[in-house]
Amino acid sequence: MLVDGKQMRPIWFDADLKIAKVIDQRMLPHQLVVADLNTVDDVIEAIREMFVRGAPLIGATGAFGVYTAVLRDQECNDDRLAAECDRLKAVRPTAVNLAWGVERVLETCMGRDDRDARLAAALAESLAIVEEEAENCRLIGEHGLSLIREISRKKGGKPVNILTHCNAGWLATVEYGTATAPMYTAFDQGIEIHVWVDETRPLNQGARLTAWELGKHGIAHTVITDNAGGHLMQHGMVDLVIVGTDRTTWTGDVANKIGTYLKALAAKDNDIPFYVALPSSTIDWEMDNGVTSIPIEERDPAEISHIQGLDGGGNLVKVLVPPPASPCANHAFDVTPSRLVTGLITERGMCDASREGILTLFPEKR
Ligand code: MRU
Repeated sequence: MLVDGKQMRPIWFDADLKIAKVIDQRMLPHQLVVADLNTVDDVIEAIREMFVRGAPLIGATGAFGVYTAVLRDQECNDDRLAAECDRLKAVRPTAVNLAWGVERVLETCMGRDDRDARLAAALAESLAIVEEEAENCRLIGEHGLSLIREISRKKGGKPVNILTHCNAGWLATVEYGTATAPMYTAFDQGIEIHVWVDETRPLNQGARLTAWELGKHGIAHTVITDNAGGHLMQHGMVDLVIVGTDRTTWTGDVANKIGTYLKALAAKDNDIPFYVALPSSTIDWEMDNGVTSIPIEERDPAEISHIQGLDGGGNLVKVLVPPPASPCANHAFDVTPSRLVTGLITERGMCDASREGILTLFPEKR
């Protein structure tokens, strides 16, 4: 996507250095810092510390993690590669894309004894994942456009107010984003939209990243507190909710950033359509009950107790909010049951958030 006139992706391959590079998203929107993924430990740190985040991007980074493991192992040892892949898959538990990306590249490597051939295969598969995910998001934008266009038509061209949570934009994928893809497509086609951006405590992916992305693209948006959505919905100020997801069961239950469930409840109570946008790499084809089965990541309580921002002198600083002795609990995701989801927007089209709906789009999984 365009950043100040320059095409950027959150991950890319540096052919000279033969390594992947990523934007260190912890510093956005105040600093644009690039990090090199030289070793598997670098990849693990980038995912754990959230230089990269967002399910599809974690999947792509995990894929490059396998490439990096092959690059750093002169002996082409299968057991060592499998162990590195286990380490990569364990870094963040909720997004199913991580295991998906790692396993996909691992499969292409196994059985290749020649290191150069293995390295070439790992790179080709990682690059293929990146390009496929970019195309999937473009298609999500095409399919989701009809929702926005229809609301715009009904409102006689007045701005369509869309609420989103966290960052499911291009920074969380490779291009376009998932939840944001229909917004970019609608905007590019001249449909007037305005986006309510949940700040998304504790790490403020909405306030820092979604607001930055939308602003760079020229899309009207307003950052709101995480608790404002219900009020706005009650007062007719939200036409549509679109969020992303880290794992959606094949029965339609949706794990996403903590707070998503509350937005879905408020949307249901106010008869507002609540859509979830995702590439098929985010579907868990084995899990039936998301509420009881999806592993929910618990992160460092310091992410709750401390908040990061720019001080008056332009320095990035962290400040303490609660009393130092008060314990904090940092559940990073929640699960929205399928009954609260109006529909899913995928690269193959839209469907009900149900087994039947999903299998209609992906009949090969029957
Ligand atoms: O903790 P994060 O920032 O990785 O959480 C990201 C989200 O919750 C996104 O909404 C989700 O991954 C979808 S990304 C297209």
